[in-house]
Amino acid sequence: MQNFKKDFPLLMHQDIAYLDNAATTQRPLQVLEAEREFYEKYNANPLRGLYDLGVLATEKYEESRETVAQFIHASSSREIVFTRNATESINLVAYTYGLANLKEGDEILITVEEHHSNMLPWQMVSQQTGATLVYLECDKDGLISDEMVCSAVNEHTKLAAMTHISNVLGRKNPVETLIREVHKVGGVVLVDAAQSAPHIPVDVQKMDADFMAFSGHKMYAPMGIGVLYGKERLLEEMPPFLTGGEMIEVVTRCGATYAELPHKFEAGTVNGGGAYALAKAISFIKEIGQDTIEKREMELTRYAFEGMQQIPGIRIQGSTKAEEHYGIISFALDGVHPHDIASILSEDHVAIRAGHHCAQPLLAYLGVRSTARVSMAYYNTEEDIDRLLQSLSTMRQKMGY
Ligand code: ALA
Repeated sequence: MQNFKKDFPLLMHQDIAYLDNAATTQRPLQVLEAEREFYEKYNANPLRGLYDLGVLATEKYEESRETVAQFIHASSSREIVFTRNATESINLVAYTYGLANLKEGDEILITVEEHHSNMLPWQMVSQQTGATLVYLECDKDGLISDEMVCSAVNEHTKLAAMTHISNVLGRKNPVETLIREVHKVGGVVLVDAAQSAPHIPVDVQKMDADFMAFSGHKMYAPMGIGVLYGKERLLEEMPPFLTGGEMIEVVTRCGATYAELPHKFEAGTVNGGGAYALAKAISFIKEIGQDTIEKREMELTRYAFEGMQQIPGIRIQGSTKAEEHYGIISFALDGVHPHDIASILSEDHVAIRAGHHCAQPLLAYLGVRSTARVSMAYYNTEEDIDRLLQSLSTMRQKMGY
């Protein structure tokens, strides 16, 4: 078995079974070095300097955008806007497309499984425009079926937003069906790919997504760089989100015309080092191989899932099939609060997340206030999972049961 951890300094130098990858992944040395390389070799303010170094900074920044476009199969790098993270990408669409196009009588369709960052922006749009926010439910296992999607979409559905993979249940949602149905009635769809883009191949053209959002830090890149994909036709029509430096063409005392795509949406100094490091993270993912990543994460998921099923008192949320968990397993352990589970695991050097995972409506729907959540990346090992299982199997006893 290949040692995938060898590229990740933190994993090599710390005694930790890091199983909180849905919150943020670790970064490989190649990515850490790339960020440093940008500032050591190419640093000037991208998109501004006319001197050689400034031109180089711009070139590196725009090449990074091209790498992102190719990664998600966008038809042009004009469709890639760099943001801080998926949250900012979704807010950008809500504050621009949402406020400009939605009105009373329209419906915004989202699912009960959304992360707060794909829910609160739509609550805001609904409150400010009078459009009705409609929730697509899931079943008790977290399934949203094609039939459920078809019956929720109607001629009032002007905008829909759906998480591609749930950050709590790890379940993949039928985004293709949603897009097909919403397009039939003339609406647009935003896909939250924060938990999918790092783990499975994503093709915006095949999917026919109108907008897609994801974060760099969940895919081995630094924190503070994210992506919004938008179809060129839609981005062209949208008003700017933030205004200020570098997003303009001409400014007079009483107004401005805006820069070409995608710069219209990138006000102020950009995160050049972050974009460059994100492109390096994408090259790194390609070198490992997206098929290898998906296959390895599925093996680890199955190994953890089957091991957890053997431990008395553990109840896994969501699907009863390991292959429907895409690296994420939320669970309860009878009699032990999720926060205590995480703390005891931490004593055993196992890192998982416990809480509401920024998805309180989903947890309320599932009838729990919080869960413990294990989330994997391809660099995890069976040994990491064994440490988790070993600690979990003695936990109830430790707590006096
Ligand atoms: N959205 C991230 C998570 O699910 C932070 O943990």
